[in-house]
Amino acid sequence: MSDEHITLGIETSCDETGIGIFSNKRGLLAHKLFSQVDIHAEYGGVVPELASRDHIRKITPLIKECLADINLNLRNISGIGYTAGPGLSGALLVGGSVAQSLAWSLNIPSIGIHHMEGHLLSPLLDEKNKPELPFIALLVSGGHTLLVDVERIGQYKILGESLDDAVGEAFDKTAKILGLGYPGGPALAKLAKEGSSETYSFPRPMIDRPNLDFSFSGLKTFARNTFLDNSDKKADIAKAFELAAVDILKIKCQKALEKTGRKSLVISGGVSANLSLREELDKMGEYSGVKIFYPKHEFCTDNGAMIALAASIRLSHGQLDNHYEINIKPRWNLETLSAV
Ligand code: KG4
Ligand code: ZN
Repeated sequence: MSDEHITLGIETSCDETGIGIFSNKRGLLAHKLFSQVDIHAEYGGVVPELASRDHIRKITPLIKECLADINLNLRNISGIGYTAGPGLSGALLVGGSVAQSLAWSLNIPSIGIHHMEGHLLSPLLDEKNKPELPFIALLVSGGHTLLVDVERIGQYKILGESLDDAVGEAFDKTAKILGLGYPGGPALAKLAKEGSSETYSFPRPMIDRPNLDFSFSGLKTFARNTFLDNSDKKADIAKAFELAAVDILKIKCQKALEKTGRKSLVISGGVSANLSLREELDKMGEYSGVKIFYPKHEFCTDNGAMIALAASIRLSHGQLDNHYEINIKPRWNLETLSAV
């Protein structure tokens, strides 16, 4: 196909090795993921050194498998994107080193991608239901809770963020308190289905404030204190926690939409897989006339497809890294990116 550019995307910022191959003409061609959940489960959280070591083990086999699935080889790749940050430095270095070495040896351009930009753009992987710019993005993952005004790709204004725990982190910590293991978000959501919404009412910190910042660490503390006195009420506690977390996110989204007048809302990141959150936001969208977009379920949590997509867009606008430098950014402010 003429003018076709095929981009390889590599995600290694945390505990998932993700590879994606994206064509500017045909969309997503292949993607593979290896989740390290079992490796970290016995420690109750991600062990950075173990994460790096496992990315090293998995990264080349996954790239090979992706290429084999679509009958391509490395020579067909015309650009490479890798997650440069934010994330665990050792883990980021694995993806960055492999990406830059491959790009240098193939003499093709490469670019470091912001992990949260990957999440933010992930609903664009759905060719049939792409959000149109401008939109508000609610980014909810294990490390971040951000409300972002997206005027155009790369031009991100942070309207609000969590002042303490990210919402995914609060799900994980509350799940740990209830003895649900790691990662706790999906387990807590599952248990909440069996709980009653009548037993407890958790606080909704900061919802009366005019600003769009969040606070979730109080919810976790409230869950701990409730659990200490009522250890037989796990499902009801899970339910009350989930209701409060979802309510807080919904109220702040509503305020962000009112403040900016935007008519589209994108929700992405690991917690966007949460069905109660989707239900509540869909309802809000219906009565307020706002269109709501989510990534497909498999692209809610970390993956390589979203990195391949973001890299494809940036490379097609002539953006690229200089001289194949391995320039990772474990801390990286989304607002400092350049617009395309
Ligand atoms: O985006 P992600 O895969 O990794 C980060 O960039 O952090 O998000 C992982 C987070 C974890 O905190 C996990 O518990 C949470 O997303 N999560 C959920 C659900 N599925 C994943 N939280 C609530 N409900 C879910 N169904
Ligand atoms: Zn993520």
